[in-house]
Amino acid sequence: MSTELKNDLFIRAALAEQTERPPIWMMRQAGRFMPEYWEIKNKYSFLEMCKTPEIAADVTMLPVDLLDTDAAILFSDILVTPEAMGGDLSFEQGVGPRFSNPVRTWEDAKRLDVDVLPKLKYVADAIQVIQQRLNGRIPLIGFAGAPFTILSYLVEGSSTKDFKNTKLLLNNDPELAHYILQKIADLTVDYLNMQIAVGVDAVQLFDSWASALSWNDYKEFSHAYNQQIISKLNRSVPVISFCKGASVFAPLLIETNPNVISIDWNADIRTVKNSLPEGMAIQGNLDPFVLYADKKVIKAKILNIIESMRGEKGFIFNLGHGIMPDIPFDNVKYAFEVVKEFRY
Ligand code: CP3
Repeated sequence: MSTELKNDLFIRAALAEQTERPPIWMMRQAGRFMPEYWEIKNKYSFLEMCKTPEIAADVTMLPVDLLDTDAAILFSDILVTPEAMGGDLSFEQGVGPRFSNPVRTWEDAKRLDVDVLPKLKYVADAIQVIQQRLNGRIPLIGFAGAPFTILSYLVEGSSTKDFKNTKLLLNNDPELAHYILQKIADLTVDYLNMQIAVGVDAVQLFDSWASALSWNDYKEFSHAYNQQIISKLNRSVPVISFCKGASVFAPLLIETNPNVISIDWNADIRTVKNSLPEGMAIQGNLDPFVLYADKKVIKAKILNIIESMRGEKGFIFNLGHGIMPDIPFDNVKYAFEVVKEFRY
């Protein structure tokens, strides 16, 4: 962790302190909506960018410099861990991530390697380069994918709308699902603790596809592992638990005892905040599609969220999910300005 931060608004909010305005960063802020991202992307593949610490640092710093964010997020991907476990991963333009060797049988699952930290050394190296560049300006967030979300990519082999193969596995061979989930969970504990040891200032667990599950399946195949992971983390830095579907699953998300729960846009943020135990903070929850709208609308919908949190301790402004690549950069910049000019 950085010894002294020049801007510690994000950390104070994550530790459920009252702040003069909410800190702001956006999930997927280091990405394709910035023309500067494309200048780099046109020269390298996405995985090359992730695996070359200097380039990962350059991309991490783009939104920091262009938008003056209150936190940086490591440029990487949740799929670098399943790749290190043996997944043959590629990112195809317009198609998204693809594993050419989906994991669907016991044989496939037994081949998954869990002792993979050495293969992920490039992440540790990137964190060090980024922290040198940040030089205490703002905190750096590290992250990993939650086991269920990672499992869904390993099983489907690509992005999916209906999670058919994943659900077939959960229903037909829950033992195999648990075997794979446990392997991912073990690795995720080591991976996040490595990021914390190397120097990130906070970590976020991304359970992007939890919303595909029923309450009981979420409890059994997702929540149980998230809880296990968070209970084994080095808690010297704040832990954020993000879940798409948090409007429904918030009571379970709270049970994992993170410092911050990060919610999507379905729920009223004040209502969820009021259900949190003392000392737990909340992050969210603008619908990212608002950022396609006119500036007047963007401002009104942002202020609506911020005003509703007046008097609350521990609020980090963010989107309810990642920013889309074709959102106009100017609108994103404007959203940052609106939040940064606000004072409680
Ligand atoms: O937040 C950040 O800016 C930091 C970097 C980051 C990326 N992916 C970069 C990325 C983070 C935190 C992620 C997390 C991630 N990756 C999640 C969880 C968050 C979420 O949005 O739900 C998920 C589900 C993934 C898996 C993934 N990686 C997908 C589905 C895709 C393709 C998406 C698409 O829109 O095409 C990626 C690729 C990816 N990860 C890109 C970036 C900048 C685009 C790569 C490119 O330039 O083509």
